[in-house]
Amino acid sequence: MLQNKKIRRTALCGAAIAMCALTIIGLQSCDQGSAASAPGGSAYARPFPMPHGYWKKTDEFYCFASGGQQGGMYVYGMPSMKLLSEIPVFNVDPAWGWTTSNPEVKEMMTNPATGELFISGDTHHPVLSRTDGVYDGRWLFVNDKRNARIARMNLATFRTEEVHWVENVPGGLHGFNSGPNTELLVGNIELESYPSKEIRDYVDVDTDMINGPYISCVVGLEVSPEGHMKTAWQVWGPWQYDLVRVGWGESDGWMINTAYNTERSVNTVGMFKRPEDYVFYWNLASIEKAVADGKYITSEEAPDVPIVRWSDVDVYAAPCPLNPHGLDIDPTGRYALSSGKATTLIRYYDINKVVKAIEGQKFVGEEYGVPVINKDLISGDIDTGLGPTHIEYDNEGYCYIGFFVDSDVKKVALGAPWDKKHGKEPWTVVDTIPAHYSVGHLMVPGGDTAEPYGKYLVIMNKLTKDTFLPHGPLVCENHELYDIETIPAPLIDQMPLPPETHYAQGIPVELITEQAKLVYDLPSEIPPPGVVYDYDEKVVHVTMTAVRSFFTPDMFTVPQGWDVQVELQNIEMSLDMTHGWALTGYDIMESIDPGEHKTLTLTATHEGVFWYYCLWFCSELHMEMRGRMIVIPEADWSPSLEWSALKAG
Ligand code: CUA
Repeated sequence: MLQNKKIRRTALCGAAIAMCALTIIGLQSCDQGSAASAPGGSAYARPFPMPHGYWKKTDEFYCFASGGQQGGMYVYGMPSMKLLSEIPVFNVDPAWGWTTSNPEVKEMMTNPATGELFISGDTHHPVLSRTDGVYDGRWLFVNDKRNARIARMNLATFRTEEVHWVENVPGGLHGFNSGPNTELLVGNIELESYPSKEIRDYVDVDTDMINGPYISCVVGLEVSPEGHMKTAWQVWGPWQYDLVRVGWGESDGWMINTAYNTERSVNTVGMFKRPEDYVFYWNLASIEKAVADGKYITSEEAPDVPIVRWSDVDVYAAPCPLNPHGLDIDPTGRYALSSGKATTLIRYYDINKVVKAIEGQKFVGEEYGVPVINKDLISGDIDTGLGPTHIEYDNEGYCYIGFFVDSDVKKVALGAPWDKKHGKEPWTVVDTIPAHYSVGHLMVPGGDTAEPYGKYLVIMNKLTKDTFLPHGPLVCENHELYDIETIPAPLIDQMPLPPETHYAQGIPVELITEQAKLVYDLPSEIPPPGVVYDYDEKVVHVTMTAVRSFFTPDMFTVPQGWDVQVELQNIEMSLDMTHGWALTGYDIMESIDPGEHKTLTLTATHEGVFWYYCLWFCSELHMEMRGRMIVIPEADWSPSLEWSALKAG
C-alpha cells in the first residue's frame, strides 16, 4: 500500500515534490546519473528520472536460468534483474524462431534411436564451459531431466546448436556438470532404468521389471574443441545418482555424486528407510583405464558407447545425511558439501582425508563390492536448519546453503585455508538471509567454479505465494537478489519468472558482449529469388528473400499434395531487423534474424489462397510485407502456373 501511495503522489505533485518525498522515505534515489549516492546508503536505488540505456551500462553479469518444464532458458541482466531473452532448447517457440518447420531444429528434437519427435523437455542444470575451472564464455550446456539429453548453446547467437541424446538410457538425466576444462561433461541418470537385456545381463545386479529394483548409470561425454558431444562411457551399477560434480584443484581427477535412493526402492516411503545414504567418490582415471583395457560391452543401439560395470572401476561410498541433494565443491576443490534434504545436516568432506582414508583402507564395510569409508575420518556436519538443498561459494571463503523448509539461506564460514581469509570460526553460520519463500537452487556468479566472482547472491525461490500480484493458481517463481558483500545481506530486488526456473549461472558481461553477434554474416553470394518445380519428387523449392517491406517472390503456386521447401534469407544487415514468416491456414510461424538463412518445410495439403506475412513490426509498411501461396488441385495444374511463367506473362 505504501508503494502505491507513493506512486500516486509522484503523479499528482510533479517530479520535484515527489523526489523530495521519496528522498525522505529513503527508498529511491533522486540522483540522475549515478545509482551510488542515494540517501539511506542504498547503492541500488534506481535513478529518477531514468536515463536512457541505464541498465545496459550498469549490469555486471548475464544470468542464464534454466526454465525447468518451460523447456528452454531465460537470460537476464544482474543486478538489474531485467529479462533480456529466452533461448528455446527442448521446446518450440515461434517468437524466438524455434519451430519444427525448420528441419535443423526438428532433427535436434528427434530421438535418433527411435525417430520420435519431442517438443517438450525439462531443463535443469545450466553449465557454462570453463578453462582451468573458470568460465570461458565458449558455450552453455543444459540437461533435460525428463529424457537423457544435453544441449549446447552458442553464446554469440544465444541459440541452441546441438542436442546430444544419451544412448541406451530410457530414464532422465538430472545431475550434470563439467570438468575444469569442459573436455568432459558428466551426467547422472536419476530415474532408475530397466535397460535392454544385454545391459542387465552384463551388469548382473538384481532387477525386476514390475517391482524393482532397477539399475542406473553415470555418463561421461567427450567434448571436442568445436564443442561437439559424444558419449565416452557409461558406468552402470546398482544405484541411481542425483547430483554430480567433477573435481578440480585438490579434487582434480575425482567425480563425486550423490544417491538419495540407496534403498533401491520404487516409492517415497521406501526411499526414506535408511538413516543415511551415500556420496560416491569415483576415480576418473580408473574409468578411462577400464575402457582402455576393454572392460566393457556395447549395445546394438550404440556400438561406439562403452558400457562399463561399476565393479570394474574405483568407486568409494561415503555416508551422507538422509536423502542428499545438493553437492557442491568449494573454489579450492578441497571440500565437497552435501546436504541431507530430509534432515538439518550438511556434511562437508575433505578430499585430502578421503584420499588418505582410501589409501589406508579405512573402511567400515562394503555394499555391492563398493568400500564404505569411515565417515568420522573424512567429514564433519553443519547442523543449522531444516531441508538444506543447494550450496554456492563466494570469493571470500564463505558458502551459501539454501533451506527449502526454513525458507532461508545460511552463510557459513569455510574451513582451512579459508579461515585465514575470513578470520571466522570454521563451519559456523555468520549470516541468515531470509527468502520469499522456499529456496530451491541459489547462485553466486561463478559460485560453482575455482574463482567465484562473488558480490551477489540470487536465491531461486519456489512456492512464492503472495510475493507478486495474483495471476491465477499457477504462481510464478521468484529470483531474489542479495548483496553479499555485507552482513547482514540486504535484499536488493525480486524478479518474477515463469514456472519453473531451476538453476542459473552468472557470467561477467564482458565475456558475452565481446562476442555477441548482432546480425548474422550474409553469404558471399545470395541465391537469386525463384521457384523451382521438381516433378519427379513433387516438391516446390522456393528461394525467398525478406527485406523491408517485401518478400520476393511474393506469390507462388503449388499443386495440392506436393511438398514445399522455402529457403528464406533475411538480407538485412540492420540491427534489430528481424522478420517473420507466418503462413495462414498452416501451422508455420517462424522468425528470421538479420542476415539469417532458414529452411522451412510443409506439405500443401489443402487448396486455396494462403497469405504469408511478416510477424515483426519492421517498418511502416510491415503489414504490406506479405505474399500468397496458392494451392491448386493437382488435376488443374499445368506448368503455365509456374512462378517463372506467371512472372513472364
Ligand atoms: Cu518485416 Cu514486418
